[in-house]
Amino acid sequence: MAGGHSLLLENAQQVVLVCARGERFLARDALRSLAVLEGASLVVGKDGFIKAIGPADVIQRQFSGETFEEIIDCSGKCILPGLVDAHTHPVWAGERVHEFAMKLAGATYMEIHQAGGGIHFTVERTRQASEEELFRSLQQRLQCMMRAGTTLVECKSGYGLDLETELKMLRVIERARRELDIGISATYCGAHSVPKGKTATEAADDIINNHLPKLKELGRNGEIHVDNIDVFCEKGVFDLDSTRRILQRGKAIGLQINFHGDELHPMKAAELGAELGAQAISHLEEVSDEGIVAMATARCSAILLPTTAYMLRLKQPRARKMLDEGVIVALGSDFNPNAYCFSMPMVMHLACVNMRMSMTEALAAATINAAYALGKSHTHGSLEVGKQGDLIIINSSRWEHLIYQFGGHHELIEYVIAKGKLI
Ligand code: NIG
Ligand code: FE
Repeated sequence: MAGGHSLLLENAQQVVLVCARGERFLARDALRSLAVLEGASLVVGKDGFIKAIGPADVIQRQFSGETFEEIIDCSGKCILPGLVDAHTHPVWAGERVHEFAMKLAGATYMEIHQAGGGIHFTVERTRQASEEELFRSLQQRLQCMMRAGTTLVECKSGYGLDLETELKMLRVIERARRELDIGISATYCGAHSVPKGKTATEAADDIINNHLPKLKELGRNGEIHVDNIDVFCEKGVFDLDSTRRILQRGKAIGLQINFHGDELHPMKAAELGAELGAQAISHLEEVSDEGIVAMATARCSAILLPTTAYMLRLKQPRARKMLDEGVIVALGSDFNPNAYCFSMPMVMHLACVNMRMSMTEALAAATINAAYALGKSHTHGSLEVGKQGDLIIINSSRWEHLIYQFGGHHELIEYVIAKGKLI
């Protein structure tokens, strides 16, 4: 039936707004509790944006006599914002299941990387893959993420390293942005590893002199839209000085700074990010106390990645310390050939158990704060009138089941709605 509105979600047991006063992130005291309505309904307009949220009887009166393309009875169920995955590497060819076996047998991430495996292995295969092949595998991966409740995802390039392959990856991400239902924040990560035969300084020069001017040109022509710039700032990869030069140049061409820092060694990446006005820094297992304070002051968000610490048996990032100091904490799956996880509910569960976050903090980190880390919290990350109609409906009367349950989320997540469209 053609109707005036797209969707009416009726009479949910709980509607988890996350925040209700237009907050762009949640930190400190604001994280004690989330805004939750009981017995509420929600309307999404045909434009894909949220039109109304309120007590079921009020919404019923307000919209009586109006027509909807779809009405879903949400009795006994919960509505939550679509999940936001703030860190993924989803475009690649070259499975590394064999490396998982090596790691289980005791090899470290850096040992495998330095022996020519790891990122290098994936780079070789990604260079050989066709654009169509990369798009098909990306599409499948993004579908898996959507089924697990993700409606906005950050997608990095970074398995090309040379300009040609980096652009191929960014074109694949651009195609996904235009053709698929999931929201995408695109990240240029040409400094993911130092190409064989080059020093970090030479690789940084190539990026600054050749890659970034090309990205600027393609952005101006409207061919490829890139949101963020990333560097793997790590001992034996990009040092602090090369990282600084690349990020500064990226910022100068209009990209948000969002990079890998302080993961395996303390690098003072957090201090650098705060100084450069970074929107976010990922990993931070080895961040210093000063770095934490600097990030809180600069409102530079921390994207924590529980799957990586778990998979590589690293020490956990100090989520509690960051939260106590007022850092804006976000979460990401870090989906990549090293951390093969599509599921933000699993990520939230790990964040609670291994990093000692509360369920409230974990949900905020996987919604409004992850949207903040991508510079999109004015349109995404919470259920508020005027925001994008990205939401999930779970078959449980308490929202916490999304985190409490360990695996098997396809049955729990009954509906995923992205841009107002039922997936
Ligand atoms: O975030 N640390 C660097 N990048 C990825 C790993 C990429 C890979 O191993 O392919 C990460 O964990
Ligand atoms: Fe990563």
